[in-house]
Amino acid sequence: MTKKLMNRVAIITGAASGIGQAIALRYAREGADIAIVDIADGTSVCADIHRLGCKAEYFKCDVSNEAEVSHLAKNVIDRLGRCDILVNNAGIYPLAPFEEISFKDWKRIFEINVDSQFLMTKAFLAGMKERRWGRVINLTSTVFWLKIEQYTHYVSTKAANIGFTRALSAEVGSFGITVNAIAPGLVKTRTSENSPLAGMFDVLPNTMQSIHRLEEPEDLTGAAVFLASDDAAFITGQTLAVDGGMVRH
Ligand SMILES: NC(=O)c1ccc[n+]([C@@H]2O[C@H](COP(=O)([O-])OP(=O)(O)OC[C@H]3O[C@@H](n4cnc5c(N)ncnc54)[C@H](O)[C@@H]3O)[C@@H](O)[C@H]2O)c1
Repeated sequence: MTKKLMNRVAIITGAASGIGQAIALRYAREGADIAIVDIADGTSVCADIHRLGCKAEYFKCDVSNEAEVSHLAKNVIDRLGRCDILVNNAGIYPLAPFEEISFKDWKRIFEINVDSQFLMTKAFLAGMKERRWGRVINLTSTVFWLKIEQYTHYVSTKAANIGFTRALSAEVGSFGITVNAIAPGLVKTRTSENSPLAGMFDVLPNTMQSIHRLEEPEDLTGAAVFLASDDAAFITGQTLAVDGGMVRH
């Protein structure tokens, strides 16, 4: 079978675990060289990719920090040559009632979930423009369309991810660059399993989804490959819900 991402270099933020890890492994299987970017240790994900016979490097970086991202950009170009596909996946999703969210908490979640997408895209867009080919894929969430409590700060960041996707796509389409977003539903990852969200694992698939099973990180990988591939060359500015049928738009 033809591999869909042969000869591409993909950077995936937050790829040491969860959804980012699943996308990194799937991209490697599709032939891409992979940069695992994470504040946490990504060496074991790299080792898994090497066992597949594919190329991967781990870069430790806080993607909300401008100086670290600038250093990372130089390192990635030195080691992997370029970035064709950027998956802005790193994010946090702590629950808190609005009254308990401090201004410091509010700013920190925006730094990690929103500023990171801005900084990483800034760092790699110029190269994509020069080569007149590029893919930017931003992780948002279906919570944007749902009634959900204790998530004012998080939902606001995920709305910003959608706005960023839509607005940027208009400026870069003529350079062969597409910018799209993926909106997962409730996904079982180590982080969600260890949060109050785990309390919804049994109930939500049967009550809110059309497909009555819990979403796994691997469920996101087909959409991530498609949007990164040449098959999706004429799709941009879109947000694709991959949530078992929770929202329709
Ligand atoms: N899990 C869900 O139910 C769910 C649902 C909808 C959307 N999402 C979105 O998907 C994305 C991934 O979520 P996940 O569930 O896989 O999370 P996760 O916690 O399993 O993985 C996130 C990764 O991001 C890394 N990270 C966090 N802050 C970072 C920083 N400043 N710099 C670099 N790396 C950083 C973490 O170390 C971690 O490895 C997030 O953007 C999240 O908002 C998740």
